[in-house]
Amino acid sequence: MYYFVLAIIFIITLYLYSQKRPKNYPPGPYGLPVLGHLLQLGSSPHKTFINWKEKYGPIVAVDFGSYPAIGISDYRILREVLADPGFSGRPNLNVFQHRSRDIIPRGILFTEGRQWTEQRKFAIKQLKDLGYARASVETTIHAEINDFLIKIREDCDNPISLGTKFHAPLLSILWSLIVGERESNGEIAMLFKVCTEIIEKNNGLASICMFMPWCAKMFPKLSGFEDVNKQLGPLWGFLSNYIEEHERTFIPNQIRDFLDAYIQEIQNTKDPTSSFYKDVGSRSMLTTLLDLFFAGGETTANTIHWICLYLAVHPHVQKKLQDEIDNVVGNSRMPSLSDELNMPYTQAVIQESMRFTSLTPVAIFHSTTQNVNLRGYKIPQNTMVLMNLYSAHHDKEYWGDPEVFRPDRFLDDEGKVIKHEPMLTFGAGKRVCIGETLARNEIFLWITSLFQNLSILPDPANPNPSLEPIVTWILMPPHHRLMFTQRNS
Ligand code: HEM
Repeated sequence: MYYFVLAIIFIITLYLYSQKRPKNYPPGPYGLPVLGHLLQLGSSPHKTFINWKEKYGPIVAVDFGSYPAIGISDYRILREVLADPGFSGRPNLNVFQHRSRDIIPRGILFTEGRQWTEQRKFAIKQLKDLGYARASVETTIHAEINDFLIKIREDCDNPISLGTKFHAPLLSILWSLIVGERESNGEIAMLFKVCTEIIEKNNGLASICMFMPWCAKMFPKLSGFEDVNKQLGPLWGFLSNYIEEHERTFIPNQIRDFLDAYIQEIQNTKDPTSSFYKDVGSRSMLTTLLDLFFAGGETTANTIHWICLYLAVHPHVQKKLQDEIDNVVGNSRMPSLSDELNMPYTQAVIQESMRFTSLTPVAIFHSTTQNVNLRGYKIPQNTMVLMNLYSAHHDKEYWGDPEVFRPDRFLDDEGKVIKHEPMLTFGAGKRVCIGETLARNEIFLWITSLFQNLSILPDPANPNPSLEPIVTWILMPPHHRLMFTQRNS
């Protein structure tokens, strides 16, 4: 009895302590000791924050296990904080260290401070120099689309699962830019399998344990942490082989691709505090590669998949899109990036699909780099910040009917494309996606080429497929089957 009473007192003390907030801190619901709000956030935290907005306002304080956090669900505040360097940090979670094989995170996605600025600046410059935003990337994208069309024609008139069909070709495009060769040995399939599995396994209990490091240590198997780590081993090995091959054949000042540029940067770096210096440089290189494949493949592939699904369930939108493709491009050549300006309806379909999906509903966790003031609230340094991009794309006040798929909302009376302030598909400000131009080019060329040649329908056995996403760090299309048919035959 004595121990029981002591345990109760201990739990109550812990609970009261966990509810203690600094002065002028944003409001939020009561949480549980140890777990904080991890359970209350539910399976779709972006929607939970929208519900909480009514009671607590657009800035809500929660605890992710032992990490204090705020969620922001208003596009005006989001734009403000995304532009503010004080909100541009990343929380130092142990999963981010593991993937860098280091005691601090490396690369771009999960770093902050000097490591982040150096790696981000370098990656943007190299990708630009290698032509990722220019027309030269068009040839690479066209080659992948042509291969895809040959394969998918064999499946025409049969309902098929699009599942991960876009992943390998999209990763191949990134591969060509980074490793400099069109991948031919099938190993890219393993790369995308690992990226997908890491995303899927980092769900449920594993994502809860991410915020309770002791839990992952005590129950590595049960928490799924061991599984995720196991996936990383072969991935590191796979990429290391290509790095070694590049180091063997490297000729200074004859840069063939991103990897060569990186090797040269490591060789030229004499400052021991730089993230490019010697061994630290090698670990940064490996993690930066992982970041580009991880952030660039899954996102673009799933966006193309979602657009196919929307067009299957909205045949009138598909017909209008195909009419524009026929008028502007015809069927004697492939669509080109230079066509885009003359294709406002296609642009509107892509924009509306991105809005409707909100692929990365809460972006990637940010963190405050210093004590900051936000709309009268005081937010301490190292507070996690969840940018609810989904709330911006589904703001009822702004959009009126956000749950309706309606590309015309992106066109003005003269049929010109409208820019909407709440659109934050690629984030904004300091941490804006570095692959935005590449992704936009890829999506435009894939969608126009696919629908120039093919039409898409739902599976006749299931004419109304669900549009409810599978929620991971991105919103993935649900399992369903669609049917391609050949056009102009
Ligand atoms: C439709 C496709 C894509 C979407 C929707 C998307 C979206 C995003 C978003 C929302 C962020 C986070 C911004 C933030 O934390 O505030 C981000 C970051 C990032 N993206 Fe993308 N992205 C896409 C494609 C790509 C591609 C193709 C690449 C690679 C070439 C890429 C590389 C990155 C990297 C490295 C970051 C981290 C930037 C940083 O932390 O400084 N993304 N992306």
